[in-house]
Amino acid sequence: MKIIVTKDYEELSASAAKVMLEVVKNNPYAVLGLATGTTPLGLYAYMIADHEKYGTSYAHVRTANLDEYKGLAKTHPQSYAYFMRKNLFDGLDIDPENTNIENGMAEDEAKECARYDELLEQLPRDIQLLGLGSNGHIAFNEPGTPFGSGTHVVTLAESTVKDNARLFDDISEVPRKAFTMGIRQIMQAKKILILASGANKAEAVCKMAKGEVTESVPASVLQLHPDCTLIVDRAAAANL
Ligand code: GLP
Repeated sequence: MKIIVTKDYEELSASAAKVMLEVVKNNPYAVLGLATGTTPLGLYAYMIADHEKYGTSYAHVRTANLDEYKGLAKTHPQSYAYFMRKNLFDGLDIDPENTNIENGMAEDEAKECARYDELLEQLPRDIQLLGLGSNGHIAFNEPGTPFGSGTHVVTLAESTVKDNARLFDDISEVPRKAFTMGIRQIMQAKKILILASGANKAEAVCKMAKGEVTESVPASVLQLHPDCTLIVDRAAAANL
């Protein structure tokens, strides 16, 4: 795992943008695995600024997102589908038809997971962007998820519900279940870019990068990926 430590969040976002934009500029037909959460927001702002200033086109780019809350429609302001439109896609020339995410409203869970698995087979990702949960999760693969897992429905860990409550009016509104891409599919990406910012991620960062590779720290599997870059700011790198 290549580790880049930046002085702050701003530098982290600029550094992440360099990695992501290299992929898009080298291949107009790139397939991007994308993530939600507050960590990639700075990177997404850089991608939009670059598109506006230099005209980098996403007309042929396709995307697949990691996860979606169960029970939230794509029009719901807290859904990840909405998040992606608002924070990235609306600022680019990407065709909405080329963007993919699990359907949080799907009633048949098994069928939806099979649909997404099939789609991911057809869309080998050139790069997979990841954030890191404070409990070491990637996407919504909580501690204990088998490394071989495909798309599945997960009951969120109590710590995840608490972490994500800040984005809702009240903790009771945070969905308890979500669809998530599996660890096997995350590991299939050609390149992985994982970002972590802030002191509350320091312990998880250390376990992920320097600890034992174990299913109780899902992100530790990334130590086994041949092309994984971790970008962390100083606060998140404190325990490295
Ligand atoms: C959520 C998402 C993850 C994300 C994590 C960290 O649980 N499912 O994909 O990486 O939160 O979020 P943040 O970047 O806001 O700290």
